[in-house]
Amino acid sequence: MVVVDLGAAPGGWIQAADSVLRGSGTIVGVDLLKLQQGVADGEGVQFVQGNFLDPKVQARLKEALLDMSGDTKVDLVLSDMMANTSGNNTRDGALSLELCEAALAFAVQHLSPIRRATKVVTPSGRPTAAEGSKSLPIQFIVKHFASESTEAFRKDLARYFRQVKWVKPPSSRKDSREGFFVCAGFKGKQSAETESAEQAPAQDDLESSVFF
Ligand SMILES: C[S@@+](CC[C@H](N)C(=O)[O-])C[C@H]1O[C@@H](n2cnc3c(N)ncnc32)[C@H](O)[C@@H]1O
Repeated sequence: MVVVDLGAAPGGWIQAADSVLRGSGTIVGVDLLKLQQGVADGEGVQFVQGNFLDPKVQARLKEALLDMSGDTKVDLVLSDMMANTSGNNTRDGALSLELCEAALAFAVQHLSPIRRATKVVTPSGRPTAAEGSKSLPIQFIVKHFASESTEAFRKDLARYFRQVKWVKPPSSRKDSREGFFVCAGFKGKQSAETESAEQAPAQDDLESSVFF
């Protein structure tokens, strides 16, 4: 499994991903800041220091992927990127959106599409627990600072992923506008873009909740 971790410093998510993969995968982290010492020491871990919004840094990230896995295809894109919040919600929302959109553009370019899960029906005719969208693999998780642009960004995500869920983990302060979009079942760049922009996703495919 190839994982890209955007906004990786000091390295908690890299360590968490590494402990799940147990050395059997590849993790490439990117951050403006350095990682804590020792975090990138594992064989399957590489780190690129720089601004992810800079095309040269993204080129270095691609080189790192090629170097490690022989390909630039990725199974999971994580983004915990967030600029220092200023307390001005409009400014913080705009900064977050820029990072989220860049992370989504990278994910769309590098993830492999997942075919819709096949319906598994038992002899009684009832679908099994594995049936349908519930079994779709999570492929993109992005931190997002909610603002008036959130709904438009969620719609953008829903163009590319069969399932989009807003998650606010217990570790995130209740009064903070931060949360995560968890996206599963990448449709593929081409098929997503040929679908009509107006076409609403089927209701049971789009799980979301109130943002604030
Ligand atoms: C909440 S911290 C990430 C914590 C990290 N996930 C961990 O587990 O240790 C957010 C990170 O996003 C990084 N960041 C913000 N803007 C960035 C950008 N344009 N390019 C790369 N990293 C960025 C910050 O430097 C900061 O380290």
